[in-house]
This record gives sequence, structure tokens and C-alpha cells, in this order.
Amino acid sequence: MASKIQMTLWLLTLYLNSGECFSNGKVTQACGDMKPEHGHDPSPQTPPYNITLDKYQYHVGDQIRVTLSITAPGGSYFKGFLIEARAQGKRDRGAVGSFILVDTSISQLLTCGHTQGSAVSHTSDAKKSEVQVIWIVPDNPPASIQFMFTAVQKYKIYWVMVPGPVATLKGTTAGPPPATTTTDSTTTSPAVLPSPFSAKDCGTSKSCLRDPVNCDPGTESLCHFLSFRTVGQSVQFELSGPADGYVSFALSLDKWMGNDDVYLCVKNEDRVEISAAYVVGRTHPEVATENALRDTAWAMYDGVIQCSFRRDIDLDRLNQSRFHLDHSYFLFLAHGSAEHGVIHRHNRQPLISSHQKAITGTPEDLSGSRSPLLLKFHGIFMLVAWMTTVSTGVIFARYFKLDWPESSLFGQRVWFQVHRALMVLTVVLTCVGFILPFIYRGGWSKRAGSHPYLGCTVMALALIQPIMALLRPPPDSSKRPIFNWMHLGAGTIAQILAVAAIFLGIHQQALLLPAPWATGVLAGFVVWGLLADLVFELHSRGYLLPEITAQFFAAGRQAEDKRAILSGPSERNGFRFRRIILGVFLCGNVTFLFTLITLISNV
Ligand SMILES: *[C@@H]1O[C@H](CO)[C@@H](O)[C@H](O)[C@H]1NC(C)=O
Ligand SMILES: *[C@@H]1O[C@H](CO)[C@@H](O)[C@H](O)[C@H]1NC(C)=O
Repeated sequence: MASKIQMTLWLLTLYLNSGECFSNGKVTQACGDMKPEHGHDPSPQTPPYNITLDKYQYHVGDQIRVTLSITAPGGSYFKGFLIEARAQGKRDRGAVGSFILVDTSISQLLTCGHTQGSAVSHTSDAKKSEVQVIWIVPDNPPASIQFMFTAVQKYKIYWVMVPGPVATLKGTTAGPPPATTTTDSTTTSPAVLPSPFSAKDCGTSKSCLRDPVNCDPGTESLCHFLSFRTVGQSVQFELSGPADGYVSFALSLDKWMGNDDVYLCVKNEDRVEISAAYVVGRTHPEVATENALRDTAWAMYDGVIQCSFRRDIDLDRLNQSRFHLDHSYFLFLAHGSAEHGVIHRHNRQPLISSHQKAITGTPEDLSGSRSPLLLKFHGIFMLVAWMTTVSTGVIFARYFKLDWPESSLFGQRVWFQVHRALMVLTVVLTCVGFILPFIYRGGWSKRAGSHPYLGCTVMALALIQPIMALLRPPPDSSKRPIFNWMHLGAGTIAQILAVAAIFLGIHQQALLLPAPWATGVLAGFVVWGLLADLVFELHSRGYLLPEITAQFFAAGRQAEDKRAILSGPSERNGFRFRRIILGVFLCGNVTFLFTLITLISNV
């Protein structure tokens, strides 16, 4: 991927600078593919130059004298050059180690990737027959490295990324490198993970972050899993989960994306590329050119991507601005799709650990959530307000006006007090619930579709209702019916919009309830309310005969009880019936509400 980005940059610079060439040797844009911007094809001839080394085996911190010189007898001098060392078998991972100069008049250091001096180039197009530089073996060197060079004889005659000699780390044999993720790895066999990871040691010898809670990647394929354990001076990570493109995790100082240390396992055709990256803002991660990951291994099965690698606790020695693993971070677990190894934005909110965790700290079974607490409360408040308190308040106003004719509550009619209390509660819950997403986002969310627009309309209507109610004309006023209709109209519109907003809300990325299960529960919730309304309405119009229904509900009761019902005024009989319906409605309503609140608290 890094090389792709470099390629793009290189094409862009080629386009912008066509005709120009870099006789000053400041060719950092050629770091990746080592191509000079000459607009001609490299020479098909065998290059008349090669690199020789003063030693072919190295230790950490060693210096190797690298000489680029003419090899063919009578070969022509060269004008331009670029030298880099690449990990063998991981050439497209960029330059490794750094150089120091021997002759500053003909050579200069370049910064490729994050490492200063990781490449050397010419200073001018003066004719040269030999150039010497010193390569310093980095900490954590690869098992073997290969020096690569580009040499320019004339503007139109040059050779690109010519493989030079190989040097190996002492004590290792130059064999196929471990699980590589590079384009030239097709000839080597990457380390294959023998079996799925296990959650067995979670909390005892390794820390784990899992979604769903306590799932086991060894037995469930629908398990997003991250584990880490300290091994000496490094940390061993295991990452797996169902994904069609990539699985990743990030270390973050806050619960926001941005300035995060990211680790990616990206599917590319039939391979998994494992890399470290850095996310600067809410943007695409920038892949680190210098690879800091070791012992990489991966597997793919049943749509699950699985990878493991090791990283040193601190990478200061590599001059990499990557996070120290002995500090505490929030852990983000994300997955998504990828195309040709290039990742797309995650399609679900990442799972974020509930607290910051020191990566090298004591093993812990971590829990996380894909949804921020503020948005969970937003959802719960809106559900309570618009599915429970508002419906109950409306039922009281519509069907209980004539009941409790003798009694009053705090000096007002009972139905009115109940209605007013529930509606005030609705407005308060809506106001609080309304503010929460703005606190969380710090502004307007562009990704939320029409949900926030509906929400604002509902909020406005919810505020108009109590004002309208306070200014209502007296009951005997001729304007009273107008108020009644407006109050009913605005309330009904608010309720319909609120229900629509809730349906959209449970599909929002930041509060994504499990579909279709949650959608079904919410639909049931709405139907339950409509059904109660229908029964009340039919009853109030006399379609449900109070005597018959009362008898039905009173079945098995004493005869005098039945007589008492039948002898009372019909309105009072209806009252008993309405109370029963209200009770049944509330039981169902609260059950639906708690089911949804449970779903919200579990995402
Ligand atoms: C340069 O030398 C190395 C070994 O020293 C050899 O493997 C490589 O093929 C040579 N390259 C060229 C272009 O002669
Ligand atoms: C890291 O940077 C420092 C100062 O910039 C330099 O002295 C040191 O040689 C660099 N180390 C490596 C491995 O590049």
C-alpha cells in the first residue's frame, strides 16, 4: 500500500515536473520504487555496475561499507544513483537502516519513510566511477537485507532498482523470511496460523478485547477478537474477526479517531498484509514505511481474517513515532471492506474499550462498546419519552377525561394532572436527550442522514406544545376547539416524526442495534400502542359493549360482583374496562421498552 501511495505521488510529480530531472539528486519521491523521473524505459541491458560490501554478515549496530562501482570492463561512468537497503523478501516495505556518507561532495542522505538517511543519492550529475557509503545496521534488523540501487548513465540510459548483494544477520540462515505481506512474497511461504486463536487464557496470561462479550474465536466465527501479552521486550498481538476486507485495532489516547497508532491486517487477493499505520485525523491511515512488526503470521477461513505479530515495547531506536506499549490507551477494534489491499472506512463503529489499558499491564479481560454512553442515554431517553410517557399521557387525555368525576389531584382533575405530568416528563426527557448527541459530536453530524432533522422538528414541536397549553383559551371559549385541534395535531405530528426518528436512530452507526431483531421489537412496540389506541377508540364509540367485555374479564367472579357492574351507570362499567386495557397496555409497553433498553445497553 505504501508503494501504491508512493507510486501515485511519483506519477503526480512526473506529471507536474515532466521534462525536469533531478540532477541535484533530491529524489525523495523515488524512495519507494527508486525510479528516476526520466520518462523513458530503463535499459534492458545488464547494468555495468554493481555493489560490493566489506562484509556480508552483520550484528545489531554494525557498519557495512557499501561500494557502488563499475563492474563491466570498460564500462561507462554513471552520473546519478540511489542506494537503499531493503529487507529481503519485503522489498516493497521500503528502506531499512540508515547510511552515513564517506564523500559528501558526491553523495547525500535522503529520508525515506520515517528514517533519516535511509537512502543515498548523488549531489550533481558529475561523472562518477565509484561511490562509497556506510550502512548502519538498525536495531531489530531483518534476518537478511539486500542492497538495491538505481544508476543513471545518461538521461535515457538508466537501470532501476537493480538487486545487489545480500547480507545476513549473524546467527540466522538466509531462508525464506517469515510471513511476508509483500508483492514479492509469492515465492516464499508465509507463516500460516495452524488454528484459530483461543480465548482460554484471556484475563490470566493475556489481555483480551472481544465482541460479542466473552466470545471465543476458537469456536465461534462471529467473534471479533484482540489479545496481547508481553514477551520480553516486545508484545505479542493476536487479532481476528469476521470481515470481508480487513480487521484492525488502534491504540488511542482518547475515545476519538485521530492521532492513533493503528495495526492492520488487510486481505489482498489470497493473502493477508499485516502492517502498522498512523491515523492523523479522521482520515485514511498512513502506512508506516519502516516495518516494526515481527513474527507475522496469518490465516483466512470462513470469512474470518486472522493475524498475529510481535512489536517492541518502544520503537524509539528505530526513530519511529509509534506509541510506547507500556503506556495506557483506549483500544479500538474495527473491521471493514478492502479492495486490492486498500481499506475502506469501517462499516460499523469500532468497538472501544471501556477504559484505558496499559498494553504491558497485568492481563485483563477487557470489555468494550461500539456505542458511546452519551448516545445510549440519548436513545433511552427518547424511547422512554416517545414510546411510553407520551402514549400514556395521550391515552389519559383522550379516554379518561370523564373518570374520577368526584376526586381531584392537587386541585385539578385527575386525568389532567396525569396528562400534564407525563407530557412535562416527555418534554424534559426530549430536551436532555436532544442535547446529548451534540455534546458527544461537538456539533452537527453529517453522517446521520435525516435523523437529526427529524429530531430537531420533534424537539421544536415538543417545546411548542406546553407553550400552547399554557396559553389555551378557557374551556367555554369559542376558540377552545381551535386549541384542541392544534394541540392534538401538533402532538400527533410530533409523535409520528419521533417514531420515524427512532426507527432511523436504531440504524445509526453510533447506536446500531442488532437488526432485524431490534427493528422487529420496535415495530411490535409501535403496533402495541396502536392496538391499545384502537381498542380504546372502539370502546369509546360503543363498539365494544361494556357489559359483555366486563363479563368476559370478570368471568369466574362472584355473581354479586357481576350484578354490581351491570347495575352501575354504563360509563362506570366502561371505566373498569378501560383500566384493565390501560394495565395491559402498560405491561406490554414496559416489556417492549425494557427489551430495547437491554439491547441498547449491550451494543
Ligand atoms: C551484483 O552482485 C551480487 C552478488 O555480489 C549478484 O547476486 C548480483 O546478481 C549482481 N548484480 C548485477 C546486476 O550484476
Ligand atoms: C535516530 O535519530 C537520531 C537523531 O535524529 C540519530 O542520531 C540516530 O542515528 C537515528 N537512528 C536511526 C536508527 O536511524
